[in-house]
Amino acid sequence: MTRIAVVEGDGIGKEVIPVAARALSVLRPDWEQVRLELGFERWRRTGTALDDRDLELLRSVDAVLFGAVQSAPNGEYPSVVLALRRALGLFANIRPIRGGGADLVVVRENSEGLYAGRERVEADRACTERVITRTGTERIARTACRLAAGRRHLTIGHKANVLAADRFFLEIARGVAAGEGVAVDDAFIDALCLDVLRRPERYDVILVENMFGDILSDVAAFHVGGLGLLPSANLGDRYALFEPVHGSAPDIAGRGIANPTAALLSAAMLLEHLGDPRAAHLLRSSVETVLFRGERTPDLGGTATTMEFGDAVLVSLQKMV
Ligand code: NAI
Ligand code: MG
Repeated sequence: MTRIAVVEGDGIGKEVIPVAARALSVLRPDWEQVRLELGFERWRRTGTALDDRDLELLRSVDAVLFGAVQSAPNGEYPSVVLALRRALGLFANIRPIRGGGADLVVVRENSEGLYAGRERVEADRACTERVITRTGTERIARTACRLAAGRRHLTIGHKANVLAADRFFLEIARGVAAGEGVAVDDAFIDALCLDVLRRPERYDVILVENMFGDILSDVAAFHVGGLGLLPSANLGDRYALFEPVHGSAPDIAGRGIANPTAALLSAAMLLEHLGDPRAAHLLRSSVETVLFRGERTPDLGGTATTMEFGDAVLVSLQKMV
């Protein structure tokens, strides 16, 4: 039987993930959902945010649906998200942005660069190392090429005019694309951020290193109406974790107004990954139907609560299945 782990995490993760989990129950009542608590709240209560038994469970399931985890305000505990990416080997972060004239996918390297945790803070200086490896670049470039092969073309975003590590990244990624016969161009990341806003139709799959991908996907979110709508997949050779791009949003947490769309679309990516494109399509259509009718949460200018929006999507889904 297919088993998925469901991790709400903190903040609005506790509000949006239950909606997505309900949608999965409607579409796949035959799948087992295993709940797991991880994150800041748990750390505050128990002193542990994530342990080996959790990892064992996460490695035993077919996929993970994940909300968001709040970082410790002063770095008192190590990032759960980074620890998960490392422990599960989730080196690729896939962020599709579809809507408002954009139909693109940001493929973000998820394990190297500035977020790899190679840091030193001394009295009068602080240093974060940005390491980019051949192996890391080759595998993320292959992932991007595989996606681009079924679509139009590939753009590599970088800062090779200034950074030696980016000349290295660009050269290796171009080589992989040439080997796979994928049409490729490239752009400086700063200019790319502006151009993605101005002329989204020029872009399809965009390959970027870790932090550039983090920033570029938030920029591109402008086209769809913000972070409440962006899903993502974190993929490795063996494991897969699906989560909204947004975080725990402490500024609106607990008020029941978070937009569950990003979580619902993440569940759709999970369905597709586990071989059920039909269910994924039904879920996306239901979300689109409700948005189109104008039932929206406050981030999109509406007045619907998370629950009201979620219920509307579920009603629409139930009519389709
Ligand atoms: P955030 O994504 O949580 O929020 C940014 C802004 O977008 C806020 O104004 C928030 O209200 C709004 N927003 C986000 N999602 C929304 C939704 N579904 N509906 C309506 N509005 C939404 O980013 P922020 O504030 O920088 O980070 C908050 C916490 O989340 C931090 O502790 C951060 O480390 C963590 N975080 C965790 C992530 C994860 O678990 N994968 C990813 C990003 C941040
Ligand atoms: Mg981010």
